[in-house]
Amino acid sequence: MCGIVGYIGNKSLDSVLLVGLKKLEYRGYDSAGIAILNNDEISIRKSKGKIISLEEKLDAKGFDGHAGIGHTRWATHGEPSTKNAHPHTNSTGSIAVVHNGIIENYVELKNMLSEKGYVFVSETDTETIPHLIDSEIQSGKDVKQAFYDAIQKLEGKFAIAMICEIEPDRIYFARNGAPLIAAFGKKSASESFLASDLPAIIPLAKEVTYLKDGDWGYIQAGTLEIYQGEKKYENIKIEPILIKEEEVNKGDYAHFMLKEIYEQPDIMQKIIDQRIDSNNRIFFNEMLFQNDYLSKIGRVIIQACGTSLNAGLIGKLYLENFCKLTTDADFSSEFRYRNPVIGGDTLVVGISQSGETADTLAGIHEAKAKFLKVLSFVNNNNSSIARESNAVIDLMAGPEIGVASTKAYTSEVLSLFLFSIYMSAIRWVLPKEEKKQLLDEIKSLPSQIASILKNLEPIQEISNYLKDVSSALFLGRTYNYASALEGALKLKEISYIHASGYAGGEFKHGPIALISEEVPSIVIVPQGEIRKKTISNLLEVRARKGKIISIITKGDDEVKDISDFFVEIPELSEPLSPLLTAIPMQLIAYFTAVYRGCDVDKPRNLAKSVTVE
Ligand code: G6P
Repeated sequence: MCGIVGYIGNKSLDSVLLVGLKKLEYRGYDSAGIAILNNDEISIRKSKGKIISLEEKLDAKGFDGHAGIGHTRWATHGEPSTKNAHPHTNSTGSIAVVHNGIIENYVELKNMLSEKGYVFVSETDTETIPHLIDSEIQSGKDVKQAFYDAIQKLEGKFAIAMICEIEPDRIYFARNGAPLIAAFGKKSASESFLASDLPAIIPLAKEVTYLKDGDWGYIQAGTLEIYQGEKKYENIKIEPILIKEEEVNKGDYAHFMLKEIYEQPDIMQKIIDQRIDSNNRIFFNEMLFQNDYLSKIGRVIIQACGTSLNAGLIGKLYLENFCKLTTDADFSSEFRYRNPVIGGDTLVVGISQSGETADTLAGIHEAKAKFLKVLSFVNNNNSSIARESNAVIDLMAGPEIGVASTKAYTSEVLSLFLFSIYMSAIRWVLPKEEKKQLLDEIKSLPSQIASILKNLEPIQEISNYLKDVSSALFLGRTYNYASALEGALKLKEISYIHASGYAGGEFKHGPIALISEEVPSIVIVPQGEIRKKTISNLLEVRARKGKIISIITKGDDEVKDISDFFVEIPELSEPLSPLLTAIPMQLIAYFTAVYRGCDVDKPRNLAKSVTVE
């Protein structure tokens, strides 16, 4: 949700910023801009649309300098347009600002500044910031004091970077509720970076400091100063950057989404290897809760958004079935505002790939305000959600760039499964034999996923059919009800085909009215207790001439015979089956979107990391 990048150093500035913005494009891509300081003068280029349109405006000649800031936007205030694109400036253009977040009191600030004679040219909340800094400077303050005093007046969430002609050797920054990191290149390079996320500055940056809420300061070539309030940090924690370049590049894949789908066998293997030992003992070494606390939890509330909530719905069933723990799973945005009745023995679980989702973070704040403990499953241990939780479980999926979440989802489901088995041992719930059977089975997961990935033909055939429909239904029961929600979410977010997921049993209570020859149903029918009931749902569709696409266990001839299309998955017990059924649905969504000519990695109107509520 908006990406920021800043650079001071000797490298070609427009290219460093442009490369950085391209890597941040997953955060928003409706307009982009760059401001550069050259000979103490700021020049700006902006463009509506993706970074590629900005690139066309950057004529190599004349547009370079020693310091610059860039921005890729996901519109909140004001439509996507060149006028509303960042950077925004004060009236003389001597101060340029990029911003991620929302300034909640911008109307009051705008009125106050307008009364002083400041003229606004955009519809954004951001434009108040350069005018505000300007008004502080006009009152006689130096740039540093003016910047600090201005950010004190901002309410809401922000990550800000600012360049100013009066102090051309610095880029000022402030972080409050939106992600921002500062980083350095090789020692000899004497260069510094700012970014919303690490991929923007890899491979150039070698060391990083993760800024905290309330931090502000400035970078200079090869150095920085950070303040919390008026207090300067004496010791800044600087860490080596461990992510490799290939982790943030597409390699030979056409899209990040496809690369990330294909990474799943290795990621599942990594999680299994790190979490389960040869005696089937499970480890969550990074998770700070003691067994004594975990054994006394009376209820769990999982709160998350989008794909992470779909994983959470499966986690709820794991915790209920394996630990006999009353568990709810809720949208963070609902949990946050519906004022639920919660006892003190409730554990609140947050799940978030990015670790920055504002709704999930707000849910965590709500839990903490009620004095509840929070455990979060995150794919970024330096994220806001990780920092604000009492304990954290690392999803270990590696950077996920494609806007449609794939590998993070299966990592979430697998981590939730292992956590529930871990909890069941502490609470003495699950019989030893059952535990052994499940853990023995899970070890075959990576090769089973790999086998699905090798057989694309039936999946592509289905996608070729789906590309021409305008609506599709996804049906599943119990563990695969959430799979149906996730399958529908994947299809609609990247192919723009209307899709809804339903619990198979609920289907006859309304959604069945949608069935026609033009509206296919994707029915998830793995082996297990609910197979027969799901077949009944399938027959209900068939009787109404609806097309059936089924996801079945290998060799299930009965379902094959009543399906128009089918994809076979290897046999795995029902609770684990969502880890397999997810794969064909990810691929079906992917190929359908590709065949429809959609921009798979950057679907319209979406952003990967949504840092506003
Ligand atoms: C956005 C993304 C979704 C994602 C959701 C939650 O809406 O487009 O793909 O599932 O945020 O993200 P999180 O990072 O918290 O898992």
